[in-house]
Amino acid sequence: MKKSAFIILLSVSSIFHSFAEEGMLIPSLISAFENDMKAMGMKLSAADIYSVNNSSLKDAILHFGGGCTAELVSSQGLLLTNHHCGYSQIQSHSSLENDYLKYGFWAKNKSEELKNPGLTASRVVRIEDVTSMVLTGTKGLSDSDKLLKMQSNISQLVEDAMKGNGYSAKIKPFNYGNDFYMIVKETFSDVRLVGTPPNSIGKFGGDTDNWIWPRHTGDFSVFRVYTNEKNEPSDISDSNIPYSPLHFLPVSMKKRTPGEFTMIYGFPGTTEQHLSSENLRYIMDQERPARIKMRDKSLSVINAGMRSSDLTRIQYSSKQARIANGWKKWIGQIGGLKTVDAIQIKLDREAKYIEMVNSKKEWKDKYGNAIGDMNALVKKYKHADFGYSMAIEYLYVGPELFKQARNLNKFLSSYDALKANGELDAEIKKQINGAKGFFKNYDENVDKKVFELLTAEYVTQVGEGPLPDRLKSTSAKILADKIYAKSILTNEERFIKFMNKLNSNSLKKLKKKDLGFMLFLEADENFMSNIIPDIRIYKSEMDGLLKVYVAGKTEMFPNEKQWPDANSTMRITYGKLEGSAPHDGAKYTEHTTVDGIITKNNSGNLDYELLPRMKELVKKKDYGPYAQDGELWVCFTGSNHTTGGNSGSPVIDAEGNLMGINFDRSWESTMSDFMFDSSRCRNIAVDIKYVLWVMDRYSNAKHLVDEMTLVKD
Ligand code: ARG
Ligand code: GLU
Repeated sequence: MKKSAFIILLSVSSIFHSFAEEGMLIPSLISAFENDMKAMGMKLSAADIYSVNNSSLKDAILHFGGGCTAELVSSQGLLLTNHHCGYSQIQSHSSLENDYLKYGFWAKNKSEELKNPGLTASRVVRIEDVTSMVLTGTKGLSDSDKLLKMQSNISQLVEDAMKGNGYSAKIKPFNYGNDFYMIVKETFSDVRLVGTPPNSIGKFGGDTDNWIWPRHTGDFSVFRVYTNEKNEPSDISDSNIPYSPLHFLPVSMKKRTPGEFTMIYGFPGTTEQHLSSENLRYIMDQERPARIKMRDKSLSVINAGMRSSDLTRIQYSSKQARIANGWKKWIGQIGGLKTVDAIQIKLDREAKYIEMVNSKKEWKDKYGNAIGDMNALVKKYKHADFGYSMAIEYLYVGPELFKQARNLNKFLSSYDALKANGELDAEIKKQINGAKGFFKNYDENVDKKVFELLTAEYVTQVGEGPLPDRLKSTSAKILADKIYAKSILTNEERFIKFMNKLNSNSLKKLKKKDLGFMLFLEADENFMSNIIPDIRIYKSEMDGLLKVYVAGKTEMFPNEKQWPDANSTMRITYGKLEGSAPHDGAKYTEHTTVDGIITKNNSGNLDYELLPRMKELVKKKDYGPYAQDGELWVCFTGSNHTTGGNSGSPVIDAEGNLMGINFDRSWESTMSDFMFDSSRCRNIAVDIKYVLWVMDRYSNAKHLVDEMTLVKD
C-alpha cells in the first residue's frame, strides 16, 4: 500500500515537472505543488505564499477595479498596477492644462495624491473549499429541489462568513460545478492616484506593439490605498490615512538570470481548456473568423477617421483600442492553434479518454458519453451560438447608435414611474448630460459608415439565421441614409431637442417614426426572443457535460496536472524567466533594453513617439543602480500561464520579491486561453528596475523608490 502510494507520488511529481508551466492554481491548494516549485528553484514555503492565520504573499495582491490585479509595495499602502489598468483614472484627471496623458503625473507628497470615486481594490481574506457544505442535504433530491437546497446552503454560508467583520463573501463554482469555493474579501474604496509615466512610456508601442514581443512598454501606474484610522476600509475621506498592509512585496534589484524561477499571483478572467474538438473547430473555423471580419470593417472606418482628423483620433482612441485589442488577440489565437494543430491534439486526447473509459465498466457508465454528447451539442447549437456572437458584435461592439438607443430605451422603460414620482424633469436633465458625454466622443460620419458596413456584414454572416425583418427587406445603404439623416439617436442637436420637448405624443412618434430606434427595438427583440433562450439552454447543457468530462479526467488521469479554468478568482501560476522559439528559424530573447526604445522611435511610427527626455537619458546611459551588465532592461518574458485579468499582476522571484509587472502575452501565446503550449506561450512583464528608473531618473520621484524595500544581490 505504502509502496504504491510512493510510486504514484513519484510519477505525479515527474509528470508535474514536464507540465510545470501550465495551469492557474488555487492559492489555498498550493502546498500540493510546493515540491515541484522548489525543484524549479523556489525558496519559499507554501505557507509563505498562502496562509489564513499569518500574513503571506497573498495579502500583498489586490483585485484592482474588478478587472485587473495590483500589488502592495510599501508599509504605507503604495500600490502598483498597469498603466492600461489605471488609464480611465489617469484620463479623468487629465485636461488640456494638466495633460497627464501626455506628460505624466507625480504627486510630490501624499496631499497631492488624487482621489478616484468608484475605484476599489480588494484583498482576499481566505479561500475555502465549501463543496460538501453546499451539497449538504441534497442527496436523493430531484434536480430542481437540489438546486434550491444548494442555493439556500450558499446563502447561509455567505451570511455566516460576513457576520460582524465588514467582509464580503461569494461562493463560486469551479470545474463546472464539481467544486465550490467561498472567497472572502476585504474591499478598499479610497484608492488614490500617486503617479503615472506619460503615454510615451506607459503606452509606448500602442496598438502596433499590442500582443507583440519584442516589447518596450513601461505599462505601469502607481496608486495608494487609504483606510480609516483603524486600518479598515472606508469611503473616500480627507481624514483617511495610508493603509498599513499585512504584507507588501520587497522589490528585487538582483541580477536576473534566464531560467530562474518566476511566479505570478493574480486574478485571471476566463480560460476554456476543456472544449471538445468539435467546439474548438467551430470557434477556429467559424466564430472567431466572423467576429474578426466584423471588426475588420469597423476598424477600417475608425482607423481612417482617426488618421484624417485629430479630433476623431482623440474621440475614438479608447473605443478603437478596445475593439482592436480583442481583434488582434483572436487573430493570434487562431494562428497559434493552427500552428500546433490543436484540433488533432484534442482528437488524440479524446481518443485516450475514450480508451480509458472503455477499460472499466464503472467509468463507461459515468463518463462514456461526455465527449460524444459535447460534440453533438455543438453541432446542434452552433447556429444559435453563431447568431449570438454576431449579435454581440453588431449590437454591442458595432455602431454607437445602438448604445445610445439602449440608454434611451432604459430611461423610457421607467418613464411612467418617473412621471408619477415627479422625478421626470431631473432625470431628463441627467439624460441630456449623459448624451452630451456620448456625443463628445462621437462622429456622425464615422458611425454612419460603421453602421452601413456592419449591417451588411451582419446580414451576410447570419444568412438564414434569426434576423429582424427590416434587415432582410431593406439594404444597409438605404437604412444608413435614412437613419443618419433623421434619427434623434445619431445627432446631438436632434436628441436634445427631443428630450427638452418630451411628452407622450413625441414618445409615440419615436416608436413609430424614428427608424434608428425602431431598428434597435426590433434587433433587441430578436436577440432576446430568438437568440438568448437557445443560448441559455446551450450553455447550461454544455456546463453539465463539462462537469462530467472534467470529473472523468480527474478520476481517470490522476497523474496529470488538473487545474480549474480561470473564473476571475485569485490564482497562482509559475514558470521560468525565459524566451522562446515560436517559429522555425526565429528565436526570442527573454528581455529587451532601452536601446530598443530608441530604435523603434527612429522608425517614425507615431506609436513610438517619445518626449525628448527619454533620448537624452538613454544617450547619457544614465541608468544608475538599475542597470545589469551595462544594460537597462525594459521588459522580459516568462513561461507563466496568464490571461486577461492578469494585467498588473506581480512577477515574483524565488524568494518572494517583485521582479516585474505582468501586462500582456506575445501573439504566439494567446492560444493559451484554449491550450497552453510550453514551448511558445510567454507572458510579458515590465521589469521593476525599469519602473524604478522611470520614477527616479525620468520623473524625479525618487521618494517613491525610497518608500519601497529594495533587495540587492
Ligand atoms: N493586450 C493587453 C491586454 O489585453 C494590453 C491592452 C492595452 N494596450 C493597448 N495597446 N491596447 O489588456
Ligand atoms: N492585457 C491583459 C489584461 O488586461 C493581460 C494580457 C493577457 O490577456 O494575457 O488583463
